[in-house]
Amino acid sequence: MIKLRIMARLNSLIAPTGNGRSQADAWVVSAPGRVNLIGEHVDYNGGLVLPAAIDRRVVLTAWPLGRGRLRLRSRHAEREVEIDLLQPLQKGEPSWANYIKGVAAGFQRLGITVPGLDVEIDSTVPAGAGLSSSAALEVAVATLLEEVTGCRLDPTEKALLCQRAEHEFAGVPCGIMDQFASVHGREGHALLLDCRDQTFEHIPMSDPAVSLVIFDTKVKHRLAGSAYARRRASCEAAAAALGVETLREATLEQLEAANLDEETHRRARHVITEIARTADAAAALKSGAWAAAGDLMRASHRSLRDDFEVSCPELDFAADTAAVLEGVYGCRMTGGGFGGCVVGLVATEAVGEISDRLSVAYQKHTGIEPAVFLTRPSGGPLVESVPSGHVS
Ligand code: GLA
Repeated sequence: MIKLRIMARLNSLIAPTGNGRSQADAWVVSAPGRVNLIGEHVDYNGGLVLPAAIDRRVVLTAWPLGRGRLRLRSRHAEREVEIDLLQPLQKGEPSWANYIKGVAAGFQRLGITVPGLDVEIDSTVPAGAGLSSSAALEVAVATLLEEVTGCRLDPTEKALLCQRAEHEFAGVPCGIMDQFASVHGREGHALLLDCRDQTFEHIPMSDPAVSLVIFDTKVKHRLAGSAYARRRASCEAAAAALGVETLREATLEQLEAANLDEETHRRARHVITEIARTADAAAALKSGAWAAAGDLMRASHRSLRDDFEVSCPELDFAADTAAVLEGVYGCRMTGGGFGGCVVGLVATEAVGEISDRLSVAYQKHTGIEPAVFLTRPSGGPLVESVPSGHVS
């Protein structure tokens, strides 16, 4: 059996691709998406977040190409893209190529020459589902460029370079959580990250009796980009009004005493209470107090729905339906919101029953066929293979 698997792996490595090239002459690297267990919309407020890298990855296969050209093909897009690395890199169409250009520009800014490469992109991270397919792509590209050039970045610098790519080339003023989770993921662990000083701790999550289930509503981020920027601006306005650098520094007492408009007050209340919930959830997970962690996840969903207003009817239906199913400790929307996924912390023995019931109820209610899958906290970027004879 093992021999068969090794043979299959070897065959896939030396098999010629559609272009007649062998994977033995290619770099193959990958990086994971992430699911956030709790700590939503607090990373850009210097808060605490608790994501885990997942066993869904972006995989890049790359061959050397003539100097100065980056040729990109995605299994999920029709058009091939060619980028001239000798010209200043600029964002443009198609939008998925911007993540790659942004990372390449980050390397160039560090004085590292980005070599010509022919890159094939494949991914098992659903796009636009709040599982950070874009961060996975950025981190995979950074890993590829590290490997090809031999210039290895400090992992936190690498996450920051990828975040900057997203800011400048994709136009999303995101926090650091997604890129950090992809870079620092560890198998069987969640990552408690303090976004104020970027210190982190891996929290074991390997009890076989407990599983993470992801329920994809298949609703895409409507208005997500502009709404995200507006939420971020509200938080910054609240911090300025309270006289603190970020809402991480603020307390509920300060907020109650201040005279913020009703909406800004609710936005800030979400952030302050969510940071406290995340600290409590990390403590609960460490002691295996699943029910307590689950209650905090439910409270997080309510706060995101009512105070921060980033949920949507489909997410609410899935979260409310799951919340009362036997074997569900807790569940909540995960990621930026306005669609995407619900994450559930559930008893492993009940996974099948929960998935079936939830899918049937959701499809009946919305008419949309969802996707449900189990995930395991996974490791960060991987170099799967390098061209034979390559020394970096
Ligand atoms: C998106 C952003 C993250 C974070 C989440 C919300 O995924 O990329 O930085 O702000 O939304 O928690």
